[in-house]
Amino acid sequence: MPHDVVSKLLLVDDLPENLFALEALVRGEGRQVFQATSAEQALALLLEHEFALALVDVQMPIMNGFELAEMMRGTERTRHIPIIFVSAAGRELNYAFKGYESGAVDFLQKPLDTHAVRSKVSVFVDLNRHRKALDREMEALAAAHRQQETLVQELRATQTELERAVRMRDDFMSMVSHELRTPLHTLYLEAQVRKLHLDRGNLANFEPDKLAAMVARDQHQIRNMVRLIDDMLDVTRMRRGALSIQPKPADLAALARRVVDGMAQQAEAADATISLQVLPDAESRIDGVWDEFRIEQVLTNLLTNAVRYGGGGAIEVSVRALGDAAEMTVRDRGPGIAPEDHARIFEQFERSADGRQHAGGLGLGLYITREIARRHGGDVTVESALGEGALFSVRLPRTPA
Ligand SMILES: Nc1ncnc2c1ncn2[C@@H]1O[C@H](COP(=O)(O)OP(=O)(O)OP(=O)(O)O)[C@@H](O)[C@H]1O
Ligand SMILES: [Mg+2]
Repeated sequence: MPHDVVSKLLLVDDLPENLFALEALVRGEGRQVFQATSAEQALALLLEHEFALALVDVQMPIMNGFELAEMMRGTERTRHIPIIFVSAAGRELNYAFKGYESGAVDFLQKPLDTHAVRSKVSVFVDLNRHRKALDREMEALAAAHRQQETLVQELRATQTELERAVRMRDDFMSMVSHELRTPLHTLYLEAQVRKLHLDRGNLANFEPDKLAAMVARDQHQIRNMVRLIDDMLDVTRMRRGALSIQPKPADLAALARRVVDGMAQQAEAADATISLQVLPDAESRIDGVWDEFRIEQVLTNLLTNAVRYGGGGAIEVSVRALGDAAEMTVRDRGPGIAPEDHARIFEQFERSADGRQHAGGLGLGLYITREIARRHGGDVTVESALGEGALFSVRLPRTPA
């Protein structure tokens, strides 16, 4: 039983001396006694306080005790307050106030018997304490229940998220294995063939010109694997916010020339050509402060996509200064990207739904590209419709924010 519960008692009697005498009887530890000399005054107090019990004199002028009780019963706030009527009339009064919730009403007869008053009041006060304690427990229980509900909901959300993450990891693992397997397998086959030649003393296959082509093929496969692994590492770093960007003064035009030259062979193999337009003229410099290595990665990703998905043909790259920013675009004439996919392709591991286009790649290129652009204070956008090729534009502020 909590001891901090204070029980408020209301005494109503038109005669102050009665109130005085009654208060002396009911006063006690953990009780607070209020006096009212009229029903009106009692009602005012009833609205202000939460009473454990009201002791009401029946015979009062203007509004008698029963009428007061009637009014109390009509108000939600006071309806459940137990009442002890105090009256000089005989026992027949006991039945004069019918219909009041049973147990909530009792009677005391004048002249008051000290013991009867004390014990009746104690019963009600204890009852009130118990009820309050119970209320508190119920409240605590309800709060605990609510908390539990929230927790369960959070757990469910976490579970869904985890399931998604596990699925994504599985997909990712199978994609990575697949992507790494292809170049590794090629290398393995090459090595076997070479061993066979060596075993048979077939050295003609290792003449300088053939050797050069052999090394170039190996390099190509190895580069592919290194790129895949680098991409995975970059994404992990990006997710941790730990991708290092080291901006230094750079010339975007020179950078674009380098990347385009470097891609020429790959483009040729896909029957594509890459042209570069530097604006306003071929000799222009486009100076800014960027991490050259990362911006090269951006252009390389966009060009790799244009070569891979552009279906051969002309790929146009342009770079130009636009006031405080620089713009770099890559346009291809391939099958394009449906508008509803424009947002999706920039997400991790998102690739076109078209299986035919899965010519290798983890679906990380555009995610990395956009992250790098954003880390430079810029962004990448795409304009494309199915059958109309694709135009990717990168905007970069020339000085870091
Ligand atoms: N120029 C483009 N034309 C048509 N579709 C494109 C083009 N560029 C990207 N896409 C689509 O967007 C998807 C996501 O591209 P993204 O570069 O992020 O991944 P990826 O090329 O599949 O793999 P990764 O770049 O990691 O090797 C591609 O799988 C492709 O379906
Ligand atoms: Mg790509």
